[in-house]
Amino acid sequence: MSNTSFLFAEGLAKKFPGARGKPNLTVFEDVHFSIEKGEFVCIIGHSGCGKTTILNVLAGLDSASAGHVVMDSREVAGPSLERGVVFQGHALMPWLSAKKNVEFAVRSRWPEMKQKDIDAHCAKYLGLVGLTGSEHKKPSELSGGMKQRVGIARAFSIEPKMLLLDEPFGALDALTRGNIQDELKKICAATNQTVFMITHDVDEAILLSDKIMLMSNGPKARIAEIVVNTLPKERTRETLHKEPRFYAIRNHLVDFLVSRSRRFSEELPADYDPKNPPLVTPGLETQPEPPAPKLPVPEASERSAVVVNFR
Ligand SMILES: Nc1ncnc2c1ncn2[C@@H]1O[C@H](COP(=O)(O)OP(=O)(O)O)[C@@H](O)[C@H]1O
Ligand SMILES: [Mg+2]
Repeated sequence: MSNTSFLFAEGLAKKFPGARGKPNLTVFEDVHFSIEKGEFVCIIGHSGCGKTTILNVLAGLDSASAGHVVMDSREVAGPSLERGVVFQGHALMPWLSAKKNVEFAVRSRWPEMKQKDIDAHCAKYLGLVGLTGSEHKKPSELSGGMKQRVGIARAFSIEPKMLLLDEPFGALDALTRGNIQDELKKICAATNQTVFMITHDVDEAILLSDKIMLMSNGPKARIAEIVVNTLPKERTRETLHKEPRFYAIRNHLVDFLVSRSRRFSEELPADYDPKNPPLVTPGLETQPEPPAPKLPVPEASERSAVVVNFR
């Protein structure tokens, strides 16, 4: 947690007034986190803990009851074309073709752009998500996966500083989801895109993200801990399950969702500091220390050190 980060959220809370004399509902509180430039961050937690609300606060589409968000040294105070959002549903304009949906966003972002350049720009981003040839189809003529791709192309086309994704592939079949995940991973790596993504799919989180924030159950949900993804960056869907630490990370996430998310919300651990939720590296901590090699001590000039620091 650092306020020199590209994006940081400090002390976010969301409360709703209770209905007819009932106490206020605190959905989440004391939420602090930071995201570095080029980082891909996923958040997972049970339905209703406030993930979408947090994403909307980051987008400037909703306001928090307490706390604030700073992106690129400026406080988020409303929606901006510096942030691209992909919603749970595709949220396309049904009367416009795939290309026109993207074009609408591009024109809003760069009102002075010439038609020829707009056409090339739209073609580039529709091509990136594999929609070349379907540009002129209306949403009703596109499959669920294709509609979601248009939403992703639209969000990328404005070249946002921050991409916010709310369970973008939740409604897709496994094969389509896998293909789009691969494309998203490639585009993000190629453009050093900073991403905040909500997902309920632990394998998706492990494939895509650099770190995974675990949210406890509501009410009064918190960021319980942050799991650092220690798998090699070049992992793919094919290689993921062969990585030695994959199951340790996966089991850790599933265990959190199945039992610890509830226990955490019932009783906060005594040493819990919401400003610095614990950073965990499943599979790394439990590995036994390798035996110290019995080698002669080298001269000082020959010594070198590898420092691994996740903070
Ligand atoms: N206007 C409202 N009044 C009272 N509670 C609300 C209102 N809007 C949302 N909520 C509550 O806020 C909680 C968080 O919602 P949401 O951010 O959509 O959660 P998630 O995306 O994690 O499923 C839900 O429990 C929901 O019932
Ligand atoms: Mg949601």
